Amino acid sequence: MEIKVIAGDITQQAAAAVVVNLFDGVKKPGGATGAVDRALGGAVSKLIEDGEIRGKAGEQALIHTLGKMTPERVVVAGLGKSGDFNLDGVRSVAAESARYLRGKGVRRFATIAHGADIGGLDARECGRAIAEGLVLGLYRFDKYKKPNENGRDIEEVSIVEADARKAKELEAGISEGKVLAEATNLARDMANEPANTMTPTRMAEVALDVARESGLQLEVFDRSRMKEMGMGALLGVAQGSAEPPRFIMLRYDGDPDDKDNNLGLLGKGITFDSGGISLKPSEKMGEMKGDMSGGAAVIAAMKAIAHFKPRINVVGIVPATENMPGGSAQRPGDVVKAMNGKTIEVDNTDAEGRLVLADAASYAASIGLKRIVDAATLTGAMVVALGNHYTGAFGNDQKLVDAVVAAGKRAGERIWQLPMHPDFKRQYESDVADIKNIGGRAGGSITGAMIIGEFVGDAEWVHLDIAGTAGTDKTKGWNPKGATGTPAMTFVHLASALAKG
Ligand code: BES
Ligand code: ZN
Ligand code: MN
Repeated sequence: MEIKVIAGDITQQAAAAVVVNLFDGVKKPGGATGAVDRALGGAVSKLIEDGEIRGKAGEQALIHTLGKMTPERVVVAGLGKSGDFNLDGVRSVAAESARYLRGKGVRRFATIAHGADIGGLDARECGRAIAEGLVLGLYRFDKYKKPNENGRDIEEVSIVEADARKAKELEAGISEGKVLAEATNLARDMANEPANTMTPTRMAEVALDVARESGLQLEVFDRSRMKEMGMGALLGVAQGSAEPPRFIMLRYDGDPDDKDNNLGLLGKGITFDSGGISLKPSEKMGEMKGDMSGGAAVIAAMKAIAHFKPRINVVGIVPATENMPGGSAQRPGDVVKAMNGKTIEVDNTDAEGRLVLADAASYAASIGLKRIVDAATLTGAMVVALGNHYTGAFGNDQKLVDAVVAAGKRAGERIWQLPMHPDFKRQYESDVADIKNIGGRAGGSITGAMIIGEFVGDAEWVHLDIAGTAGTDKTKGWNPKGATGTPAMTFVHLASALAKG
């Protein structure tokens, strides 16, 4: 899909349709919507008067122009209350109007730059949000369906902007937004892919493609290297599966002269979580193909980071394996030793994310990473606490937590901090090992986070529990049903925010 900025009159576009917008409660539309209204002899005002268009967020009204202006159709998209309007609103309206028109068989349309005009938002940021909304909102995972079963794709979107300075800003934002959204779509592709194809081996191949295209360094450990490194917690999870595990590392050297100016991005890469011997119920077990969403977001973010070239060294680390109940699987009660020397009693084999991240975090600390941010579909308890609406954040350094939350805001990915406290440690004390891998039902997301925290050494660290946000079962705004790709964009904004200069 091509997204371009053009000068000219919205009422005279050759495109099959144009999108204009309306704030809640506006009776007499101005700007581009006003121009369309005049061209149509007051059709928009009339619809407002009759209460058929109210400007509510998410509202779409289709008007056939019947020769009164060049485009055959106009969509009036509601923006909601002008006081509440922000970049998330821009992303949503871009996504929803594009999906709406695609559903009508439209291949090319023109739109005004939502937010940049009457909305009063920064033009570059609007350009970014529009591109993100279009690229993310039109995403679909249909490679296993017959071609065009769901209709054709949108080919071209023209954003009409008369002001040359604003047009330049929009263009700059569009190219940023495309990179960010395409990275997110790569993460979605990986997470939507079934577990029989998105194996640990395949994840490493995707990482290799990214490394080649983007000039990143790639290193992959196989089972024997993991043994040499002492990654007993990861190996314990992997031993129940016939699929060989992979420990994937992607490196971007954005500040080679200052090694300590660095960031480690870690992502849980469980390509299928059956629960292991502590087997999950079969209902909805198929959703556990998405248990590598954190890892997918890391690989995707590294690609975008390589594009933007922030002045910081970033290492992406993905411990990838299945969690299966094979004959050689680990048992509840087994004791494993992580790379940092800590022993863990495996009380429940379904609490495997913290086990693979124990070794990833140990490794990250051992190679001198000063800041570590991990993303993991870690706990069902997270979904209970924050639903599908917020990612949970936990951290040992408030400044880094704040930076992550702020990066999430820029990305349109909502993040909410939860507490940690030494009092929770008693819940995961073990009789036989240094710790055990579960802390009981009470505060299950907190103990899960704190168990990962046992392995980060002296690094500043933030854990993101994306169990609720990695996927959605209803299309909403810029997130079509399925994997969301979160927090790939948050990671990219974070790397830029922490970079020098
Ligand atoms: N991958 C799951 C968590 C999960 C649940 C992600 C629902 C997405 C949606 C994780 O490995 C898991 O099984 N966690 C257990 C931990 C428990 C055994 C302490 C859980 O939440 O039940
Ligand atoms: Zn899991
Ligand atoms: Mn599990």
